[in-house]
Amino acid sequence: MANIVLIGFMGTGKSSVGRVLAAEFGCRFLDLDTVIEKLSGRTISEIFETDGEERFRGLETVIVERLVAGEFGSNLVVSTGGGTIVSESNRRALREWGKVVCLSASVEAILERVGKGKGRPLAEEADSEALAELLRSREEFYSDSDFTVETSTLSIMEVVQIIKGHLLLSGRRE
Ligand code: S3P
Repeated sequence: MANIVLIGFMGTGKSSVGRVLAAEFGCRFLDLDTVIEKLSGRTISEIFETDGEERFRGLETVIVERLVAGEFGSNLVVSTGGGTIVSESNRRALREWGKVVCLSASVEAILERVGKGKGRPLAEEADSEALAELLRSREEFYSDSDFTVETSTLSIMEVVQIIKGHLLLSGRRE
């Protein structure tokens, strides 16, 4: 059975949807940001603050390499960080490893969900225009996926059902 990888910008619902999707399939759920936090013993914000974004991206790539090497097991639903797929090697590795599902949302929905809450250094630093620009600059990378679900007006359960439908049609559960 193929692994499932959720990609998409901050606030598109990757972690919430991933957790429920994994439960539906009886799979294990892994959130890459949480793995990084556990292994480094620091929060994402602390890593950005003390080491900077570049170092964080390096950690992200190491975790993707370990994931696709099978270190965290198989039959997984994985949610990535919003910027994980900016790296071409991460994109390639994840596409070979599993079905890549992109979650998208309007800038308005993203702003509402992300708010000014703590824990997302890039969102905390950016105003709405900068966030929209960051989203635009990544759109080509998010479209490099098996299919996309637009989540702006959907509940978590609705998104999960749509993903399940796509995966069943594409034969993932054959
Ligand atoms: C980031 C998104 C975050 C986290 C980090 C950087 C990004 O993950 O990896 O703050 O570059 O878009 P979420 O998409 O889960 O918020």
